[in-house]
Amino acid sequence: MNLKNKTAVIIGATGGIGSEVAKSLDKEGADLILISKTLDKLSNLNNLLGKKHETHALDLTNQKKVEEYAKSFSKKIDLFVNCAGIGVYKQIEEISLDEWNDTFNIGLTSTFLIIREIIKNKLYAENALFVNIGSGMGVIPSAGRSLYCASKFALRGFALSLAEEFKRVGNPKFCLITLGSTLTEFGPMTLEEKKKDMESGKAYFTPEWVGNKLMEIIKDDNREVEYVLYPSDYGFGDRNTP
Ligand SMILES: NC(=O)c1ccc[n+]([C@@H]2O[C@H](COP(=O)([O-])OP(=O)(O)OC[C@H]3O[C@@H](n4cnc5c(N)ncnc54)[C@H](OP(=O)(O)O)[C@@H]3O)[C@@H](O)[C@H]2O)c1
Repeated sequence: MNLKNKTAVIIGATGGIGSEVAKSLDKEGADLILISKTLDKLSNLNNLLGKKHETHALDLTNQKKVEEYAKSFSKKIDLFVNCAGIGVYKQIEEISLDEWNDTFNIGLTSTFLIIREIIKNKLYAENALFVNIGSGMGVIPSAGRSLYCASKFALRGFALSLAEEFKRVGNPKFCLITLGSTLTEFGPMTLEEKKKDMESGKAYFTPEWVGNKLMEIIKDDNREVEYVLYPSDYGFGDRNTP
């Protein structure tokens, strides 16, 4: 896909991974619609990119607002990238219903609502692409992460099933990135703690590396439906590593 003057929606655009995707797409000349929760972070990102993109502060836990936004959508899009998510890593007895609902609403239901309206209203261009950032936790069961795993297993099922649903017509296309640990603020550990962890031997991707890799995948017209990118060997025998 040549990205020059193409319209790309990024949800979770201000995150460690989302902001790298936004910077890379901006460099390629795409017109961006940047969505995340925090207005200040969105403004900072847009300022960094020369204030030329659309921004929307939208709390993805509020499904009424997300549905309203999705229904108000009127531009034809070439690319949609879902980089939104929260990482609640807790034992089952500690997980609240709000944490459960927020995890699913941010990481999956919002994407469903937005993609559904885009498809229903045929607001996708020829060769349009929907990319979801999944996780090793969407494939590997993990103690202490049942909520996060449940949401990523579900996202994987959703994304790969949509790829099947549109395989015959060939447009739009879907791509799932099954990603391993990346050096961002995501989840309960701080960036500093992750850097220390790295010094002790744990492998992480940098968000810049992930941004570049995603660009390579998005631009490749012969891309696969799923890419598994792990910074180290996530053996199934060692279920807590990712
Ligand atoms: N980092 C990893 O190790 C890793 C590994 C595998 C997969 N992933 C997946 O990659 C994706 C991006 O992760 P990341 O590392 O970039 O995380 P991050 O830096 O924490 O970014 C998360 C993004 O989600 C947005 N978000 C969170 N709650 C929201 C809400 N209520 N409404 C709207 N937006 C909300 C944040 O917006 P604000 O900035 O406005 O809060 C931010 O843009 C996630 O789906 C994650 O599961 C991450």
